[in-house]
Amino acid sequence: MTRNGRFKGRSVGVVGDLSIDEQRYLYRKARELKAELMAGGDAVRYRIADSDYSAYLVFLENSTRTRESFRNAALFHRVRASMFDAASSSFAKNESMTDAIKMLIGYAPESCFVIRSKLEGVCGWLSDYLGPWAERSGYARPSFINAGDGKHEHPTQEFLDEFSFLEQLRWDDSRIHLALLGDLRHGRTVHSKADGLRAFRSVVVDLVAPPELAMPDAYVEKMRRNGFEVRVYASIDEYLASGEAAAIWYFTRLQLERMGESVLEKAPMLRKAVTFRKDMMEKLPDGTRFYHPLPRDRLAPTIPAFLDDTPLNAWDAQSANGYYTRAALMAMLSGVVGDDFDGEGLPAAAEDEAFVLEAPASTRTKPEYKIGIKPVDSGLVIDHIASGAPIEEIWNRIDKIRRVLGLNLRSSHGVYHTNSGAFKGIVSVPDLLSFGEKELKRLGAVAPGCTLNLIEDHRVARKYRLGMPPRIYNFDDIACRNDNCVSHPSHQEHVEASFVRKSGTGTFVCRWCEREHDYSEIWSL
Ligand code: NCD
Repeated sequence: MTRNGRFKGRSVGVVGDLSIDEQRYLYRKARELKAELMAGGDAVRYRIADSDYSAYLVFLENSTRTRESFRNAALFHRVRASMFDAASSSFAKNESMTDAIKMLIGYAPESCFVIRSKLEGVCGWLSDYLGPWAERSGYARPSFINAGDGKHEHPTQEFLDEFSFLEQLRWDDSRIHLALLGDLRHGRTVHSKADGLRAFRSVVVDLVAPPELAMPDAYVEKMRRNGFEVRVYASIDEYLASGEAAAIWYFTRLQLERMGESVLEKAPMLRKAVTFRKDMMEKLPDGTRFYHPLPRDRLAPTIPAFLDDTPLNAWDAQSANGYYTRAALMAMLSGVVGDDFDGEGLPAAAEDEAFVLEAPASTRTKPEYKIGIKPVDSGLVIDHIASGAPIEEIWNRIDKIRRVLGLNLRSSHGVYHTNSGAFKGIVSVPDLLSFGEKELKRLGAVAPGCTLNLIEDHRVARKYRLGMPPRIYNFDDIACRNDNCVSHPSHQEHVEASFVRKSGTGTFVCRWCEREHDYSEIWSL
């Protein structure tokens, strides 16, 4: 059987790596697959069944369910399956992730990597970097599947959760009202819900957690941007008292291993706020079901054991769904299924908006740069550097411009008053006349808001205004501030820092781990 389905070679580092329609397609295929297997069928149409296809399960953090469901999914597919863990593989020998994976790609014509790691954004990086590398080297483009990266995301858990909710709602995706409870700050499965719940056309989500464990603002904002109605409660008692509780409750355990000291100390008290008690039973809406990505803390479970054999228990069936959704996802990414997809795919990458604008060059003679700077007859003047910023920052920016652009030439620079009385920096470089597109972009990244005047014959021949660039990358002195990010210098993974401006704000999002930064935060020097 040829495998040329349209998703072949795609990767899933975050939920949004599949469009909403593609996610719905996954749920449809997982549903068909489950029905066929439950009815005793052999589901041959869904199997990769190719001994030249390798599935590598790289689990550098603990896992039971995710790893075992993927291992079983690989067995279902009748492919080569290899397991790696932190202790026994070369990942423990100071080898970079990129080197280790590159080597494995060489062992089979076609591979898929399922990776759990504390390095946030690792799958996005590997797919961007090693995907093209593999193709250049004569292999099929490998798929990378994120099986949980630090506090960032857990997309395949998200898919099985949504599948389970849909199953409960009899595949009606028109509306969902659910509560997320527990450690919403550190738990990645609830972070992935900000995108995953978009599989439903209308979403009301209640966040139930004490402030120390609250959902990070960035995810709450994302939920609201996605059109969800979001309500916030500090404890189950407060939630039930509101009289507006949902019938779908999604619990998470306290992620003790990811907490800082100060929160850890308060863990028993915080846990109390999100632990279910017998006396709460009667306040639940009819037909309520409880979900949990598991594991449950056996010493202090937020869903106590007395609920196991009650109709509230939806978590057992939920965890079994991990097998079907992961097997269906592998069928998609290996190209076994996909030809009957007829929805909308991912949007094409948006064109970067222009941020270098040519401005009319005034006809009057060259600007007068008084106090110290001698007007240049011909050359280049960078003006309005960090205009309005504190003086120290302006000097830093001037320094950065000189370093980044390598302006080691006869030149002068300084801090001056603007017309409105604030301060700005100016750098003037006589003799230098050529300034290419690449330099313009770099200048814009280092000193957004500045203007560049090209002066010829005592006149401003050309003038450019530089806005905030849509992307900042390819600079030695930028770095992501998230020390769990795959690109953070402390990990020595040699992953280039790269930022994308978030539309509508002045902030920049790390391309790998998605951490948001202010413009000034991305510069490490
Ligand atoms: C979750 C995880 O690892 O993020 N577990 C899982 O994959 N089933 C949740 C957790 O560890 O609490």
